[in-house]
Amino acid sequence: MQSGAKAFPSASLSGMITAPGDKSISHRAIIFGALAEGETVVTGLLRGADIYSTIGAMTALGAKVTETDDGKFVIKGCGSAGLKAPKKPIDCGNAGTGVRLIMGAAAAYNIKAEFTGDESLRSRPMARVLDPLRLMGVETEASDGDRLPATIRSAGNLSPIDFTPPHASAQVKSAVLLAGLRTEGKTIVRETRLSRDHTENMLRAFGADVQTRPKDEGQIVTIEGPIDLIGTRVNVPGDPSSAAFAMVAALITPGSDICIENVMMNPTRTGLIETLAEMGGEIRADNFRKSGGEVIADLHVRYSALRGINVPPSRAPSMIDEYPVLAVAAAFAKGDTIMNGIEELRVKESDRISATVELLRRNGVNVTESADGMRVKGGSPVQGGAEVRTFHDHRIAMSALVLGLAAQEPVSIDDASMIATSFPEFFDLMAAIGAKMEMTG
Ligand code: S3P
Repeated sequence: MQSGAKAFPSASLSGMITAPGDKSISHRAIIFGALAEGETVVTGLLRGADIYSTIGAMTALGAKVTETDDGKFVIKGCGSAGLKAPKKPIDCGNAGTGVRLIMGAAAAYNIKAEFTGDESLRSRPMARVLDPLRLMGVETEASDGDRLPATIRSAGNLSPIDFTPPHASAQVKSAVLLAGLRTEGKTIVRETRLSRDHTENMLRAFGADVQTRPKDEGQIVTIEGPIDLIGTRVNVPGDPSSAAFAMVAALITPGSDICIENVMMNPTRTGLIETLAEMGGEIRADNFRKSGGEVIADLHVRYSALRGINVPPSRAPSMIDEYPVLAVAAAFAKGDTIMNGIEELRVKESDRISATVELLRRNGVNVTESADGMRVKGGSPVQGGAEVRTFHDHRIAMSALVLGLAAQEPVSIDDASMIATSFPEFFDLMAAIGAKMEMTG
């Protein structure tokens, strides 16, 4: 059901919150646990709708996932018995990461499976995953433009490939590596730019030998199949992409001083922190520790006088989901912030370049759009007062509400329901630091 929300100009934000479980790591914990032999126990799993879609999909493929009374998730993997053919089409909801990784994993078994999703997911390109799977020998049928619904049919004995993805994409890298797990011989992925490396790290935790070799700005990843994953324990660290909303809210709301605990500091994910610091944002990380194979820290963020910068396009993969909220920060920064080399944003849950440009313009911010980016002219007081169209995109919805906290007039959004895909605790956590937001009918 569609219901809106509204954010009001707020007094200074303060207090301490804990970042929710990382979405990328949560998907992988469920998928790898379902492929593995034996039991995997996951703590700190994100309870987002996208993750429940992945749990539903892996259950349909034969795994058993249960939640314990103390909030852990226990996965009984398919292991040597293998994934089984689902009885009906698998609906992955809004989860792009889920469907792309699962198609890769499922393709290596002797099964036929149809995948679909919600309206947003059905509009997103799947060729980036189907193309390499076809090269490995998978038969596919897909809707126009290689979109969902799509069916993969595999005899299970795939050929290994040496593949260079055309875009920096952790989803594509992961889909190919997962198909490679059950494929005899060397599956190689050559990344020209490093994307998030959670698949490589977590496959190792499940006992796989994953070789990585840096090359220029990217890396070469090699696995040699067949590889049997063994169930393990996964502790999911906090999501820097969700922490981003509280971080920007504190930076732009005068007088704010907050702490966000448990934020994953993996360098393939910290591009926004680096960028906001270059813009003059006071963000201090302390209490560095290891959790679930990743470094986590607590972030102390204070209201800061921001200045516009030219964001290096090479940094895009490490902050790809954070551009909408960065554009909100840029609206409050003195001078121009230039973001380019981000054409991938056009094929996310919505066309995030045009949705962000519309969000800002409707609220009185001067912004120009180009094919591969945008330029925000910040510095004047941000008027606010508009209703923002979210295009069923959780990150557009949360970015608009963050803007409303520091604008002159309240900002509303047409639909808040999608926020639950990645950050169901968003309203509670923002209220805990003093942000004024409410649901509207
Ligand atoms: C993700 C990779 C990114 C990101 C998405 C999560 C992942 O997508 O936008 O939210 O978990 O692998 P791309 O692989 O398309 O860059």
